[in-house]
Amino acid sequence: MSIVIAVDGPAASGKGTLAKKLAAHFGFHHLDTGALYRLVALGVVEAGADPADEPAALKAALAVDPARSGDPAIRTKDIGRIASQVSVYPTVRAALFDFQRSFSAREPGAVLDGRDIGTVICPEAAAKLFVDARPEVRAHRRWLELKDQGPSEVEILIDVKARDERDRSRAAAPLKPAPDAYLLDTSDLDIEPAFAAALEAVRPAIEEKLKALPKG
Ligand code: CDP
Repeated sequence: MSIVIAVDGPAASGKGTLAKKLAAHFGFHHLDTGALYRLVALGVVEAGADPADEPAALKAALAVDPARSGDPAIRTKDIGRIASQVSVYPTVRAALFDFQRSFSAREPGAVLDGRDIGTVICPEAAAKLFVDARPEVRAHRRWLELKDQGPSEVEILIDVKARDERDRSRAAAPLKPAPDAYLLDTSDLDIEPAFAAALEAVRPAIEEKLKALPKG
């Protein structure tokens, strides 16, 4: 049985960095589920389709190749916005479900980050984190990543707030902490202290599961 750590949170909260570091620490696999929704968005754009066209979004979701998750073309502000538009469709979410579930079963464990990991994809996860930060702090972090593409920090703040609102208010798998998630606010924490806090929160549950694994 694989050990799952669910890391959820809004845009640029630091969840991806924390998820990657937790995976490296425990020797687990890591999946950035946001990349899957970004690949759906890229598929829609490449097909010249409209994000409001649900069948076109579903077609793109069924054609997602997770091996393309490293493609820099998905790391733009526009693809982030379109990803949050296509991710409202339950059909799109359902098309990505099996891949995420099988990934979560990889031995000895997996860290998945996204919006609905602790609530929908892996409600049985051994440990759950909900990572958040003030919108201004998140916008600043995202601006540092995207500034070469030209957008101003204010534009990014507007975009981050719009995306949060869409992700929180959608009917299918809205962004919200699982009732048993540990809430971690990284507004005033650099990466290392944030990682130390995340590790402290998940360690007891993960070590208990690791101890229960058959030896050898
Ligand atoms: O990196 P960032 O936090 O900006 O976003 P992301 O994790 O790459 O996700 C992009 C968009 O995909 C989000 O705004 C969500 O609308 C959607 N998403 C989702 O609905 N469910 C997930 N598990 C992950 C992402």
